Amino acid sequence: MDKIEIQGGNKLEGEVLISGAKNAALPFIASTILVDGKTSITNVPILMDVKSILLLLQNLGAKCELTNNHVMIDGSTINNTQADYDLVRKMRASILVLGPLVSRFGHARVSLPGGCAIGARPVDMHLKALRALGATIKIEHGYIEAKAEQLIGSEIYFDTPTVTGTENIMMAATLAEGRTVLRNAAREPEILALAEALNTMGADIHGAGTAIIHINGVKSLRPAEIYVIPDRIEAGTYMVAAAATRGDVVIKGCNPEHIGGIISKLRETGTIVDVSDNSIRVKGVEKIKSVDIKTLPYPGFPTDMQAQFMALMTIADNSSMIHETIFENRFSHANELLRMGADISISDGNYARVRGVKKLQGAQVMASDLRASASLIIAGLIAQGTTSISRVYHMDRGYDSIEKKFSQIGANIRRIRDN
Ligand code: EPZ
Repeated sequence: MDKIEIQGGNKLEGEVLISGAKNAALPFIASTILVDGKTSITNVPILMDVKSILLLLQNLGAKCELTNNHVMIDGSTINNTQADYDLVRKMRASILVLGPLVSRFGHARVSLPGGCAIGARPVDMHLKALRALGATIKIEHGYIEAKAEQLIGSEIYFDTPTVTGTENIMMAATLAEGRTVLRNAAREPEILALAEALNTMGADIHGAGTAIIHINGVKSLRPAEIYVIPDRIEAGTYMVAAAATRGDVVIKGCNPEHIGGIISKLRETGTIVDVSDNSIRVKGVEKIKSVDIKTLPYPGFPTDMQAQFMALMTIADNSSMIHETIFENRFSHANELLRMGADISISDGNYARVRGVKKLQGAQVMASDLRASASLIIAGLIAQGTTSISRVYHMDRGYDSIEKKFSQIGANIRRIRDN
């Protein structure tokens, strides 16, 4: 397994270009299942997760072509509605094929996604909503089997906002008979982007991006060209890294409108953040103020930025409290940061008290999930000496060319291939 090695101490300076959003590309690719024809998707990030979901679609019979950042998917050749365990276990977002398959083909057999490092991550709300649309759902031998002659529009309430739950059901409802209303829907930008993509395919969706979404079912969807929005979490990751190294970095090709919470919290640390239409300049300051963080559904501070922000708080001037409210086990990076000399204490499972220290020390550490790997990179950039991060396959799932982008802005970072 590859490792990433970082010599700490360099300030990050220069420009970094943001790739397409992983969490928009994945539902976009799943949505092509709904189309009896070829859909073209541009600005797709080069990620392991993208390759995994394309493999899954090929396994269903779809023809997929990935060239650089462009994907062409032909949904007219799909002849299999079973998503096998081996493919689903690699990536939880595979659950996104469930709604489109049962909606267009009347049947889907998808392996129950296992839990992952950050929590149990059940899909009960996805299944409850599909039942409300008239699907019969059976769970046996670790598989979800969903059947429906024709889905029928319905009123659906999500007990808590669920991103992929909202996406799955919004996609399923596009071909249902009649009107579906999703209440307490997730409001992430990726959901609005998906609704806009579906509407260019002929769907009739209103209200995406708010907590109440209306979907009027249509007979079929048509091929379209869709464009993946910039990755707000990738942008936030480079912003926090620039602040932590007291650098001066311009993050280009992002949408600041999607990053409001991160911009506000960074400014509270005293970091200088200048925002323009599609770029953000972050200038770090010597004295980083400790700030408290509480993760919330969008537009609150994103859980996917919690680990990165914790790395920044390890060298802040005082003490900060980080409250993780979305996932039950999303502090695994804290144990690795402790090994680098950070002062962190976890209480009640989802509160982390971070007391700033002068310096972190480089160490051998292990990534446990996608955003934890980003946190350890940021820690390595600011630590004294060498940091070696193992299990970087977590990172490759969700960050496009991360070590190349970091070295282009001055980081002393290299990948050690383990052949
Ligand atoms: C999406 O995961 C993202 N993944 C995650 O990003 C992100 O952390 C998460 O949303 C929260 O923003 C993709 O978009 C592919 P949820 P998702 O359903 O949809 C509970 C990353 O780093 N829940 O919004 O799986 C769940 O356990 C990844 O890019 C149920 O209880 O998250 C969690 O506590 C990590 N039952 C909360 O809701 C359900 O049926 C929110 O989860 C569904 C969810």
